Formats: sequence, structure tokens, C-alpha cells
Amino acid sequence: SSPYRIVAISGEGIGPEVVEACLTILQEVARLEAFTLEVQYALLGAIAWEKMGSYLPEVTIELCDRADGIVFGAVTQGGLLELRKHFDFFCNLRPIRSFNSLLHKSSLKPEKVKQLDILIVRELVSGIYFGPSGRASDEKGIYGYHTMRYYDEEIRRIACTALQQAEKRRGLLTVAHKENALPHLPWTRLVQEEAAKFPSVIIEPMLVDNLAMQMVLNPQRFDVILAGNLFGDILSDLGGALVGSIGLLGSASINSNGFGLYEAIHGTAPDIAGKGIANPLGTLAAGVLMLEQWGEKAAARRIKQAQERVLAKGYRTADLFPQKEEILVNTETLVNLLLEEL
Ligand code: IPM
Ligand code: MN
Repeated sequence: SSPYRIVAISGEGIGPEVVEACLTILQEVARLEAFTLEVQYALLGAIAWEKMGSYLPEVTIELCDRADGIVFGAVTQGGLLELRKHFDFFCNLRPIRSFNSLLHKSSLKPEKVKQLDILIVRELVSGIYFGPSGRASDEKGIYGYHTMRYYDEEIRRIACTALQQAEKRRGLLTVAHKENALPHLPWTRLVQEEAAKFPSVIIEPMLVDNLAMQMVLNPQRFDVILAGNLFGDILSDLGGALVGSIGLLGSASINSNGFGLYEAIHGTAPDIAGKGIANPLGTLAAGVLMLEQWGEKAAARRIKQAQERVLAKGYRTADLFPQKEEILVNTETLVNLLLEEL
């Protein structure tokens, strides 16, 4: 079979470290499952600006055009939002699943996060991130503005993806909205209209402020959470606290052709960059989502099982604050342990 083409965009901070870790494991799993990965590197963000005078260079776009998936590290500024927009990666899937051996790392009591399995479906190419914005002035002074604008069609489109996901899972779709203050963004009605085609899914509209509280009080009650761009961004960091470290979570950003960008949900972590101690599991989780998107289920399963075994043996990167019987490891050691378990 022909090789899968990956574009790796390492970015800055811990980005290069976690991307290398992820690719090493993907290459080994490809060997074991008898498929091939071809990796090409591309620049984006501050580094691209320094080297090529553009945050999102044309060559990066051209490489991505020919790829089957983008593995992304992290950037501090510039380029990422443009890349998401360029490829219309409207559907951002952020699974928040607890690990059995890490329940005690949660900010909540372990029993509150046991078997936790939430999927945040975040709209990624519209809303306040992309609405009319600027700095301007009037008689009262200088002001700045960002507009939370959604076309009904944009809400319907992400609603359909979220409904499909809920149908495949436990059938509950919680819709984050803020209609008591923002009545012109009628997420509830639009999602309910789309839901007519999904009779097995229960729609539960929830004000996003209350939703944030409920995620802390009783996270196990949630199945799929649908949110606009900004609300989804905020709720997914909360998800990091639920599972013990934001370093564990990965995400897939997919367009309507099924082409996607795969990245951890954490940032560049400048405080630990270059030290070789970053947690690669977030980017690896994103890599697993890419394999699943390609239909490489066996390869995805291998990685997930290896990860479970390594965590069960007590190996932890520093973000998980290993204690007592647990063993502190750096990125490289964790990767080697994972390779042995694949
Ligand atoms: C994320 C990040 C980005 C976002 C930043 C880097 C623009 O926080 O992917 O969650 O807000 O979408
Ligand atoms: Mn974020």
C-alpha cells in the first residue's frame, strides 16, 4: 500500500520535543502493522516569520495540501488560526478520558473521575476568533473589539458532527450556550432542528457557566459536549484538570474531506522547553486520533495499550508530580518504555 504522508509542524517551546516523540512511536507502530509513513517538516509561527517573513508560508500550505495528516507541536503566536481557517478544520474533537492509573492525579477525588469519558466537540473556524475585530475610537475613547458571530449554517454543520458522535457513543449531547445574555446565537434551537435526523440522541442545552460548574461537580454525567470556539477552548483546559494534567490530552481538527491536523491541547510550555522533560502523551494521543481517522485501528490500539501499561507501571513525566512508588522519567525514557510495550 502507498505510504501515508505526514507534515510535521514542530513549532516552538516543547513543540519539537513532543512531535519527535510522537513520530518515533508512530514510525515503530507503522513498522509493526506493515504500513509506511513519510514525514516532511514545515514551518509555521514565529520561526517561519524569522526564516521566511510569513507566519504561514505558502510552502507549508503546499506541503499540507499533499499530505494525509498534519502533526502539530505548539506555537506561541501567529499562523495556527490561519492554518485552521485555510483548511477549514471546523470540527475539533477533544476527548477527555481518565486513565485508571492516574485517577489520584485529578484535581477532583478519584471516584469523581473514574471511567470519565467526555468528548468535547469544539467549532474551530468561526465565532469570536474570526469575527469582525479591530481597534478603533469614538468620542469616548480608543477601544478594541472582537465579535462573536456565527452563521446559522456554521452552527448546523458542527451540530451534525456532534450529533453523529453522540449517536455512536452514549446518546447524550450537551450544548454549551449563553442565550440568557447572547440571544442572537440560538445554539439550542439550531441543534434541536438538526437533531430531528438523530432520534436516538438526547439534546441537553446548558448555559456555559453552569456547564463549567457541572463539569467540576459531576463530570461523569457528560457524554458529548458541543461548544463554540471560545467556550470549547475554555472547557477543554478544565478537562485537563479533571484527568490530572493538560499534558495528557490530544485533539483532532478535521475538515469535511476528513483531512486533519493533530495536536496536543497544551501550549509551548516555555518554562520547561529544551529540557527534554515534556510529557509527550498529549501529542501521542493526537497521533492516535490520526491513526483512527485513517482507519488504522490496530495501530491505534497498540499505542493506547502500551500507554496504559507504561502508566500502570508507575512511570510519570514531571507534569504528573510522581510520588511514592511512582518513577519520574524524562521524555526520551518514556518514549523508550512505550516502544518496548508496543
Ligand atoms: C488551543 C489553543 C489555541 C486556541 C491558541 C494557541 C490560539 O489554546 O488550541 O486550545 O485558543 O485555539
Ligand atoms: Mn486552548
